[in-house]
Amino acid sequence: RDGELPIDELIATFSVDVPDFPEPGVLFRDLTPVFADAGAFRRVVDALTEPADVDPRAAALGGADGGPGFDVVAGIEARGFLLAAAVALDAGTGVLPVRKAGKLPREVVTADYALEYGSATLELHTDSIRPGQRVLLVDDVLATGGTLQAAIALVEQLGGVVTAVAVVVELLALGGRERIAPHPVHALWRV
Ligand code: PRP
Ligand code: HPA
Repeated sequence: RDGELPIDELIATFSVDVPDFPEPGVLFRDLTPVFADAGAFRRVVDALTEPADVDPRAAALGGADGGPGFDVVAGIEARGFLLAAAVALDAGTGVLPVRKAGKLPREVVTADYALEYGSATLELHTDSIRPGQRVLLVDDVLATGGTLQAAIALVEQLGGVVTAVAVVVELLALGGRERIAPHPVHALWRV
């Protein structure tokens, strides 16, 4: 049984380190085995859902009433989708896809972000968030923070409030937390 393991040890146990992927010198933390295990996936989803309860900004916005502290969950393409839908179902909210450029069919807001080589663009449907709506942003990995920074910008362009950012793994060496400050990050495994 994994029920006794702290969540960070659980993730560390099930994840697989892949040296030199996708390029030489990178140690890639592969989370697919974490999500493939029913018990580990359940614990990860539950842990991602919890933190917004204790985010003081969420409480100030109404999250202290016993609700989850957010009105909707937004997941980032592609791996964030696996988590965001499960978290939303858990929390009793809907789910929004933050997508790579050109995938959403109606009017969108767009945000560019830097990749190691070049740049990419994320999009969100303009009518998907109402002003003041509280959003939990979910992704699998916080690396440099560029992806989440762009997603935050999209939510805020639409007048939404990012009350929490939740990730499974935070790669400490890459400084992502500093990049998206002052938005608090709830990371289940910091490595
Ligand atoms: C990965 C990961 C995060 C992002 C983190 O996604 O799922 O979204 O990179 O990196 P950053 O903090 O440096 O921005 P990727 O762009 O590889 O897309 P995928 O989910 O479609 O594989
Ligand atoms: N693992 C998974 N996704 C990632 C990583 C990693 O180490 N770095 C950037 N995205």
